[in-house]
Amino acid sequence: MVLRLIVPFLSFLLFRPALSDVCTSAACRKASTDILSFIDPSIDPCQDFYKFTCGNLFKKTFDTKPVSLEALVAKEVEDQTTKMLQKPIDHNEPKAFQALKKFFRSCMDEVSLDKDGVKTLREILNQLGGWPLLENKWDEKKFNMEDLFLKLRKYGYDYMQLFYFGTTVGEDDKTLLIGEPIIKNVEPDYVDSYFEFVQKVSLLVGVKMPTAEPELRDVLNFKLALLQTVEKSGPFQKTTIRDIQKQFPILNWLSLINKITYPNKEQPDDREMYFPSTEYLKELGVLLKNTSNRTLSNYILWQTIESAIPYLPHEFNDLKERFPRAFYDTNHNGVKKTRLSYCKSEAKRIFPPIFELMYITEYFPRERRQGIKDVVSIIHMELVNLVNKTELYDESTRQIMLEKAKAITYHFGAPERLFEDGLAAKLFSTDENLETNNLLTLASILLRQRNNFRYNLQNGVNRYDNYYEETTLVHSFYETYRNAFVLPAASLQGLYFNENRPQYMNFGTIGTIAGIELIRGFTEAGSKFDKDGNRAETWTKNTELVFNKKTDCLVREASFFEIEDSILRMDGRLILEKTTCDYTGVEVAYRAYETWVKIYGKEAELPGLNYNPRQLFWISTASTFCDTISLDNLKQFIVEDHQVHPTFRVFGSLTNNEHFGKDFNCTVESPMNPAIKCKVF
Ligand SMILES: *[C@@H]1O[C@H](CO)[C@@H](O)[C@H](O)[C@H]1NC(C)=O
Ligand SMILES: *[C@@H]1O[C@H](CO)[C@@H](O)[C@H](O)[C@H]1NC(C)=O
Ligand SMILES: *[C@@H]1O[C@H](CO)[C@@H](O)[C@H](O)[C@H]1NC(C)=O
Ligand SMILES: *[C@@H]1O[C@H](CO)[C@@H](O)[C@H](O)[C@H]1NC(C)=O
Repeated sequence: MVLRLIVPFLSFLLFRPALSDVCTSAACRKASTDILSFIDPSIDPCQDFYKFTCGNLFKKTFDTKPVSLEALVAKEVEDQTTKMLQKPIDHNEPKAFQALKKFFRSCMDEVSLDKDGVKTLREILNQLGGWPLLENKWDEKKFNMEDLFLKLRKYGYDYMQLFYFGTTVGEDDKTLLIGEPIIKNVEPDYVDSYFEFVQKVSLLVGVKMPTAEPELRDVLNFKLALLQTVEKSGPFQKTTIRDIQKQFPILNWLSLINKITYPNKEQPDDREMYFPSTEYLKELGVLLKNTSNRTLSNYILWQTIESAIPYLPHEFNDLKERFPRAFYDTNHNGVKKTRLSYCKSEAKRIFPPIFELMYITEYFPRERRQGIKDVVSIIHMELVNLVNKTELYDESTRQIMLEKAKAITYHFGAPERLFEDGLAAKLFSTDENLETNNLLTLASILLRQRNNFRYNLQNGVNRYDNYYEETTLVHSFYETYRNAFVLPAASLQGLYFNENRPQYMNFGTIGTIAGIELIRGFTEAGSKFDKDGNRAETWTKNTELVFNKKTDCLVREASFFEIEDSILRMDGRLILEKTTCDYTGVEVAYRAYETWVKIYGKEAELPGLNYNPRQLFWISTASTFCDTISLDNLKQFIVEDHQVHPTFRVFGSLTNNEHFGKDFNCTVESPMNPAIKCKVF
């Protein structure tokens, strides 16, 4: 599932650039324009390389908002995802994509949504056997909880009111898991507010108020009791269906499980799986005994309605906004999302793998994936060399760190499983009828398919349940707990990466980022985790002592660093991890580029720019650090968040690098080329 890199991929040979002095391809001309949009050539690079690299960028955009390379790419990604969802439906594209586009389009069409009102919702409630609160005659005797769950699951609505249903994932197998339900807590102080919300929503659906108030209160009380029950639960138990049936005959487990995991193969009753704790099942049994069928049905369907609110007319969502206290997890900072950004986030949330797959299909060409593997494989090799040679480690630390370096896994663009052939078809069964424009109906179709995919025990790709990497993140990162380096598709474009431009730029940007992120596994903080990402002590006392001694120099440098227009100073000790990684990562990227040149030869320069490849490497490197921080935010940034000021990210990394001064011919003791240089690794 994951790629381990040991040797560089030979595909480099295919991309070897022509040996002329100046490259004039489209990619090179673009690269040249990109660099010109950053640099201010009127600044002496030996005086202030930060201003030299970022000066022009800041001049253009400083008044509007914080600007950085990451912000530029993030904006591009926003445009891409909008375009992707807005693109006309092509009847030859996978049905999953068609469905998501339709969903997005219906979401944007507020007029139709409001016109439909609660008509569709009422129809659905009818199909589900009726919401007792709305019905004149609702037959309590005919109620069957399992049937209701089955219908909810089959139609694509929320069915996890009493139990959570999921799968756990081992390396290659999947086991069903039933747990306590995940219910949004209603804090004691907010019960009244929440109840008001429940009544207002019910009124919109058509419930007669205040006649129905006592019944709604039963619903509320059941929910509060259930929340208390959930709180008392213990760890999952692994046992057979038959055994749980014997102990807790509160329902027909075998039939429920087979209904929920439809359309998959039926489970035998000696199948082992995870069940909720004994405490929960016991308490739930008591609670159900003491609850009428009517209240239970009212509760289950209330929860269904509540989770359908995002797909209902605007009055429903307005209520959610008006009662933010009932939803303490709503991000309520006073800024109302535009409909566009709302619909985009819903499109992403409803069935994430479809959104992710659409994105990489549209914006992540296969050549790029190979191109980035080529670059990162050399970075990886240089990292291993650095760990192998550094004077920081003693021999016993070195062996452990070497093992760890070799064990790093890489995720290029998206999880490997997203590149599987035929995945789009697996995500969406083909007999689904998409002839509707109703948002709620489309949502239910997508959710039903999502669940069908999820419970499919045959295809072992349900790792989506545990985690998935977002392909639209605009930064690459090292994951301590997995010893993995993740490069999302969106972070491999624009100024960050282009497989067709000269490699000095790629090594400067994404190579530097890779170097910095990877080193995090090998500093003092990283030493607390072993090669599998488990907590461990991997350093000897001696290595720790040497680390402290070697880093003194960086600590002092950062602490004395003067930030322009401010008397604030950074605390060099608190940002030591970051400054060490910055400066070491840059060195790794530089060495990697040198290795690349050794293998594949010198590269051409860029048109219209009077800089040699090494200088262009440095400009690319520094460009990843450009970032505007307003004086208003500076205190938060430096004193509270302990961030490294972008100016120092450039100064600290470059003044300590023995190659930088030479490559720019800076005199010794010019600000960018001091004689004394700190060295940790
Ligand atoms: C509640 O529903 C069950 C079937 O699920 C039924 O057997 C029982 O009679 C109902 N209880 C009442 C009080 O109607
Ligand atoms: C049963 O329900 C009633 C009212 O709904 C409540 O007063 C009582 O405490 C409950 N008993 C148990 C054991 O939960
Ligand atoms: C580490 O360095 C030694 C000596 O220079 C060399 O023999 C060995 O192959 C290196 N190991 C790795 C993993 O690079
Ligand atoms: C650096 O300076 C030396 C002497 O001043 C000069 O010969 C050389 O061409 C310069 N190199 C670059 C890359 O500017």
